[in-house]
Amino acid sequence: MTALTQAPSLAERARADFPILNQRVGDQPLLYLDNAATSQKPLAVIHALRDYYEQTNANVHRGAHTLSARATEAYEGARDKIAQFVKATSRNEIVFTRNASEAINLVANSWGLSHLQAGDEIILSVMEHHSNLVPWQMVAQKTGAVLKHVPLNADESFDLDAYRQLLSNKTKLVAVVHVSNTLGCLNPATEIIELAHQYGAKVLLDACQSVPHMAVDVQALDCDWLVASGHKMCGPTGVGFLYGKLALLESMPPFLGGGEMIQDVFLDRFTTAELPHKFEAGTPAIGEAIALGAAIDYLNQLGLDAIHAYEAELTRHLFARLGAIPGLRIYGPAPHADGTGRAALAAFNVEGLNASDLATLLDHEGVAIRTGHHCTQPLHRLLGVTGSARASLYFYNTLAEIDRFAAALQETIEFFQSALA
Ligand code: ALA
Repeated sequence: MTALTQAPSLAERARADFPILNQRVGDQPLLYLDNAATSQKPLAVIHALRDYYEQTNANVHRGAHTLSARATEAYEGARDKIAQFVKATSRNEIVFTRNASEAINLVANSWGLSHLQAGDEIILSVMEHHSNLVPWQMVAQKTGAVLKHVPLNADESFDLDAYRQLLSNKTKLVAVVHVSNTLGCLNPATEIIELAHQYGAKVLLDACQSVPHMAVDVQALDCDWLVASGHKMCGPTGVGFLYGKLALLESMPPFLGGGEMIQDVFLDRFTTAELPHKFEAGTPAIGEAIALGAAIDYLNQLGLDAIHAYEAELTRHLFARLGAIPGLRIYGPAPHADGTGRAALAAFNVEGLNASDLATLLDHEGVAIRTGHHCTQPLHRLLGVTGSARASLYFYNTLAEIDRFAAALQETIEFFQSALA
């Protein structure tokens, strides 16, 4: 009788593309579980970056020489890839930024300062990343706009009913996270956007933790802006993007001034370049943008639906293993029975133990997790803790790695508990 062979998992197929994972930390193999902070990069991305600097390096949109034309073509080609990836209607709806934080600051300074007035309301949620809180606090200070925050349901998910109550004709903007980097919940973006539009409010979606893990369609969502960071989706650091509806971006004044974003400059005035260059002052991160294009090719090749389905399997296993550890509390809603409904991450605390101590000891076992407030300090305050430990997975992680993590965590907890006894 021939043995049944199982198809290799996504991780087994992808693993060889990530040489960084094949190393030891101390005397243990690296177990990288800090993907919500930054993902690892496949060889295709590393090679794209290296090839750019080895073969192409030149400034874009400026030189009349071959290298500049080649750099411009590759840079603009990466924009096309992003536009297709999020299903924008036009490549001019994609603006390269340094990261998602810069993209939010762009909208806050450009649209926020020119459209908001005293008494206008901005709705955020209590689970927002600092990058989607602080820029709006700065805008509110300058304009007199009022900030409102959507609370959590009992299961620590987005409270849609409370959101409905907060909406009014005063609401001018809703800026919320698609998938929380701490609670892991997948927020009901379609409903959130539809409801906001009924009041004529604009919606910005922070998609940093969704775009790398699932197919996101800006037209289907009908969001007005969407932001993401390249380094969380297999791309390099230093590059991210803003999607904005064309007419909206056209109506917005420039954010940063300098080269590239101008049409004509006089000693006392300037005219702006066409979209998307109007928002791209100075020399951009050219090689990084091109390498982000390579990351998108890589993710497309694996398939976002396949990534999402595999991560649901990881989520189910992660929750089963961590759920069996006494005294361990995971923040945010549990996944559905099939592992969907939330991200493959778990921010947690263990009763009586310090999260940073746990992470430090786990590092000695080769396990990389994050601790602290994960840039969601107000949320942690609300949860009654100063910080948490967080394990966050990506498609190259395996079920066996979750087993190894859970066993190492259990041992670490027992070590501390016996030391404290
Ligand atoms: N926002 C990143 C995180 O969640 C840095 O870790």
